[in-house]
Amino acid sequence: MNFFDDKIAERLGGRNFGKATEIYKFELIKRAKSAARREHPDIPLIDMGVGEPDWPADPLVVASLAAEAGRPENRRYADNGIPEFQQAAAGFLRRVFGVGGLDPERQIVHAIGSKPALALLPICFINPGDVLLTTVPGYPVSATYTKYLGGGVYNLPLLESNGFLPDLDAVPTDVLKKAKAMYMNYPNNPTGAVASREFFKRVVAFARKNGIVVIHDAAYAALTYDGYTPLSFLSVDGAMDVGVEVHSLSKTFNMTGWRIGFVCGNSKAVRAYADVKDNTDSGQFRAIQKAAITALEHGEITAVTVKKYSRRFDLLVDALNKLGFNARNPRGSFYCYVKAPRAAGDGTEFHSAAEFSDYLIRNCLISTVPWDEAGAYVRFSVTFEADSEQQETQTVRELQRRMSALDLRF
Ligand SMILES: Cc1ncc(COP(=O)(O)O)c(C=O)c1O
Repeated sequence: MNFFDDKIAERLGGRNFGKATEIYKFELIKRAKSAARREHPDIPLIDMGVGEPDWPADPLVVASLAAEAGRPENRRYADNGIPEFQQAAAGFLRRVFGVGGLDPERQIVHAIGSKPALALLPICFINPGDVLLTTVPGYPVSATYTKYLGGGVYNLPLLESNGFLPDLDAVPTDVLKKAKAMYMNYPNNPTGAVASREFFKRVVAFARKNGIVVIHDAAYAALTYDGYTPLSFLSVDGAMDVGVEVHSLSKTFNMTGWRIGFVCGNSKAVRAYADVKDNTDSGQFRAIQKAAITALEHGEITAVTVKKYSRRFDLLVDALNKLGFNARNPRGSFYCYVKAPRAAGDGTEFHSAAEFSDYLIRNCLISTVPWDEAGAYVRFSVTFEADSEQQETQTVRELQRRMSALDLRF
């Protein structure tokens, strides 16, 4: 027996930690990519699986970091953040989403990216035995932490028949009794669906009636298309009484590696988050917070990105439909989510999206992300590498050429 065999906490599997044979989806994709590259070193891989922007941060933002990085006043622990960042976030919420009236000091606190915020929020609300309602497929961080805390997770499937919105009326009464919080994310990863104001109103009524705290993950909130105006949960009457919204600069301003976002909304909930955060980290580097202010004040950075993604969606959706998929331009995020085919012309049958995605990498060197939680779907991301419009067209044309040889059946 090794010293650590009986030391790992039960929440990580205890004595079974590290022995699970189930392989994490993204690890499978990584392995399939390496195998395909090894077998076909001469064919470039088309990576449609990436969940982050292909562009770097805007030069204005980079210049701001460069100027701030060496200033002595920025060197110290930032703790729960600098007031200027909170004020800039309030301005961003007002300009982009029409959400005014937030007190920056009491209702906005920065986060070292939205991922840690989504991890810390369950610590604020979940007692052992409490349940988190969470949309699936989706970003699992709050659900994972809820389980770490001895809470339960109830999945709300996102189905095409319901516009990829959860059916709140379908939650059983015994679950509602234990439900303490609900996680949702719109525009949604991976479905690309957006929420309507009516849906958010229903969420507020549902939360109030059942005493459920709402955590809205707005990581893609500013990336919207086709006339859909960015919508914040907090813009709906009563939302501020029942919930918080988590924002991120990662996707909106091409700043994934910079690690900056913020939690906003109900002042008591934000204070609870600030308290847990203060006991967890010592704040993001002030120079990064200051560069983030530059980003938040330059909405045109997002506008250029939206234009690029929109152009790429037109190309991709057209190509996928020609291949037999039922693809539609999403109204938010940078994902195109389509039903996986049933089989390929060579007789291979796909019993899950994971099987199709694996086949696609191995046979076409095209990487996607499969989702099997609520139907078999694959996610194509328009953040694929391309330096010019011409290259975007070439990449999608090449994808179509490679995939048409598969003769997919639906
Ligand atoms: C839905 C969703 N929420 C949150 C995040 C985390 O973003 P970040 O921690 O970079 O702010 C991601 C990243 O992929 C995401 O897809």
